[in-house]
Amino acid sequence: MCGIVGCVSTKKNIIPILVDGLNTLEYRGYDSAGLSYIKDGNLIINKVKGRVKDLENHISKNINANIGIAHTRWATHGKVNEINAHPHNVGNITIVHNGIIENFHKLKEKLKNKGYTFKSESDTEIAAGLLDYYYNKYQNIDKTIQKFIKKVDGSYAICLMINNDEKTIYVIKKDSPLIIGTSKHTNYIASDVPAILKYTKKYYILEDYEYGKITSDDIKIYDKEGKLIQKEIKEYQGSDLISDKGIYDHYMLKEIMEQNITIRKTINPYINNIEDLLKLPDLTKYERIDIIACGTAMHAGLVAKYLLEEYTNTKSEVFLASEYRYQNNFLNNKVLSIFISQSGETADTLAALKKVQQAKCDTLGIVNVKESSIARTLDQVLYTEAGPEIAVASTKAYTSQVALLSVLALSHAYRTKTIKEEKLIHILEEFRSITSILNPLLEDTKTYENIAKKIYEKSDVFYIGRGLDYALAMEGSLKLKEISYIHSEAYAAGELKHGTISLITKNTPVFSSATNKKINAKTISNLKEVISRGAECYLITDEDITDNSFQTIKIKKVSMFLKPLLTIIPYQLIAYYTAKLKNCDIDKPRNLAKSVTVE
Ligand code: AGP
Repeated sequence: MCGIVGCVSTKKNIIPILVDGLNTLEYRGYDSAGLSYIKDGNLIINKVKGRVKDLENHISKNINANIGIAHTRWATHGKVNEINAHPHNVGNITIVHNGIIENFHKLKEKLKNKGYTFKSESDTEIAAGLLDYYYNKYQNIDKTIQKFIKKVDGSYAICLMINNDEKTIYVIKKDSPLIIGTSKHTNYIASDVPAILKYTKKYYILEDYEYGKITSDDIKIYDKEGKLIQKEIKEYQGSDLISDKGIYDHYMLKEIMEQNITIRKTINPYINNIEDLLKLPDLTKYERIDIIACGTAMHAGLVAKYLLEEYTNTKSEVFLASEYRYQNNFLNNKVLSIFISQSGETADTLAALKKVQQAKCDTLGIVNVKESSIARTLDQVLYTEAGPEIAVASTKAYTSQVALLSVLALSHAYRTKTIKEEKLIHILEEFRSITSILNPLLEDTKTYENIAKKIYEKSDVFYIGRGLDYALAMEGSLKLKEISYIHSEAYAAGELKHGTISLITKNTPVFSSATNKKINAKTISNLKEVISRGAECYLITDEDITDNSFQTIKIKKVSMFLKPLLTIIPYQLIAYYTAKLKNCDIDKPRNLAKSVTVE
């Protein structure tokens, strides 16, 4: 997703600060970058299609500027090229923007009728034009911004500079995140705190429809009517700046390998004894639990649904946030809506959450980034302790979400007595041993590298499963396609023969997992069906199944509450080694963003 950095200082050259910030924001995913500064009355704009390092090659090192804004763009309107990159300047106004101006076509026509012309396809250039139009009309930045807020539909985090003002950066915020960092003689603006963590841990959070005036020694924030607001200063509590890759070639591999620690860290407060389970929210007053998320977070929700329904007899539904926000949700005070999000900034998930809040129904969140927009909007939030997840493809955040949701289901089983205490105690013992249980799977990289060698040149790969194994098949399939660019589909094992099996040809790879002895035999026969049509099959299972018609990957026998945490490891590592053989950009796959803050 787009990243924004701004800085104004009386003591520092802000160019290196802007570049540092852009480098930190790279993890959000982008395809072009740019910066703008004002020096001795001159407005300078540098922007490139490509990476931040390409931008650095365009910037002369010996500039000493004291005010500037910068941006990494993840294209929404207009091609990936230099002219559509930010910053955009129109007349007196130069801006960077994260979000979507939904009524930009109408605004563009109005501005063209006022004599404006535009160079790019970007909605952001239209926003700059509108601000310039109002600024020329009113000669007053407050009226300009207040009018802008009234006229614009959509989402925006905007940093703007006025050509003849070398002292102030202005900010406007609605839906897309924006924070203001503060230190002596220097103030910062960014999409998230890690972008400026090298310079300060103290920051303010802008809320929707607020705007601000930032100078090197002063920060003023206003509501949309122009009333000055007193803001509480925050101190960043998250773990320190994102460390490097260490011994690993990619953040994704580092983050996969960290899971034996991050899972344990996430659930640690709840698993030391049976009473600790009661620290988790009480779900007993609810008749239905809705789970709303996107992508991998939604797949974590599917695991929670299965466990809640199978082991606590609680009706649960999983929804894609992008669908949920536009459909009838049948909400009432007996429904708990759980929102899952690693970034806490996913626009569809945030919009769905706001819809439930407007209906005055209860919400609970499973979020990784502290103080994120979703975290701040929820009634209650349980944080995963996965630490900053840099690779766009989610791994350690997923398993932390699954672990936390599994323990939440376990706590509900304890409160509703749907599982005997001795069984609960045994499951808690397994959770306490999760690190040693996972290690053999994480260490068995040779197996996964060998499988990757067999599939990396394929054009189609299928993942099938039943029940919980179907949820894992969906996550395994997404991992492969998003980083290796190989087409892949997840299918309910019993559904394949109703059409899609026509796609199975000689040597088509089919992955499956069989971890539920009640239905494993069915899954095996589905594998046989595709094997008889030439498929090359791989089965992850905790059962002693020996069959030389498919390759078996053995996982330890554990309770159903832990099986997803084991099954997903081979899927993650097979995807990783396949993408590595294809020399893909594993940490920043094409077209993808780490946090999708637009619809
Ligand atoms: C997963 O590998 C993807 N990066 C993507 O599906 C992601 O899970 C989804 O966009 C949701 O993001 P969130 O958890 O930050 O809300």
